[in-house]
Amino acid sequence: MQYRHAIVVGASSGVGQALVERLAMDGCKVAAIARRGDRLEALATRFPNQVLPYVHDVADVETVPDLFQRVTGDLGGLDLVIYASGIMPEVGLTEYDFAKDRAMVQVNLLGAIAWLDQAAIRFQNTKHGAIVGIGSVAGDRGRCGQPVYNTTKAALATYLEALRNRLSRYGVRVVTIKPGPIQTEMTAHLHLRNAMNADTAAEMILRKSRFTGEHYLKFSHWLMFAIIKRIPSPIFRRLRI
Ligand SMILES: NC(=O)c1ccc[n+]([C@@H]2O[C@H](COP(=O)([O-])OP(=O)(O)OC[C@H]3O[C@@H](n4cnc5c(N)ncnc54)[C@H](OP(=O)(O)O)[C@@H]3O)[C@@H](O)[C@H]2O)c1
Repeated sequence: MQYRHAIVVGASSGVGQALVERLAMDGCKVAAIARRGDRLEALATRFPNQVLPYVHDVADVETVPDLFQRVTGDLGGLDLVIYASGIMPEVGLTEYDFAKDRAMVQVNLLGAIAWLDQAAIRFQNTKHGAIVGIGSVAGDRGRCGQPVYNTTKAALATYLEALRNRLSRYGVRVVTIKPGPIQTEMTAHLHLRNAMNADTAAEMILRKSRFTGEHYLKFSHWLMFAIIKRIPSPIFRRLRI
């Protein structure tokens, strides 16, 4: 089954942009949402009548219900909503910067809840559809390097699990994706080795979006984090991972 109408929030770069490109190439009409309008316009120009651009800051949560209605009306239907917006500012090992922390909670978590609540309401009524949240392996443990990024991804996973438990009885899929490292603007400064490219990640995410539940993108990540999750805290604390 092909998707025919989709919303991608966080569509202007990285994984979100690659998801829009793949969906559009498969014939899906996609609403591409983010703040950088020039990036979205470029996508809309490449895929005329298929990619619809909407400039929106996910921190403006009170505007989401009206925008959601406008977007679904413009699309003429909806069977997939993907929330990919995310930020991970650099945080020093001894730094506690509430402004950075609040921004991560707003973009990675509150924005997701604002958008995916709307998707849940619609799909509960239409009794079909798929909701996909891009979490991270980073949510599997509280690590010393990124306390609040880890927190937002853990909370997102719990929220999505609860949505899944609510919506499965209506035939709605709720999918949590937990990627490992991907080469994008977010991670450019980290010079990651063995990182996946965004297009490969997008292809895997769309494949896994067919199956409700929680998915790592690679078996090796699932295995590694199955072990990491079980390391007792007093030992984990000393490992500095
Ligand atoms: N890269 C990795 O290694 C990795 C690993 C695991 C999970 N992830 C997750 O994957 C998702 C995509 O990240 P990426 O790696 O593709 O990074 P990216 O290239 O930096 O893309 C981030 C996207 O989020 C959007 N965004 C940020 N702030 C926003 C705001 N206030 N309002 C609306 N949109 C906003 C950006 O659009 P604008 O700036 O134009 O608004 C952009 O489209 C994120 O949730 C990230 O946490 C990434």
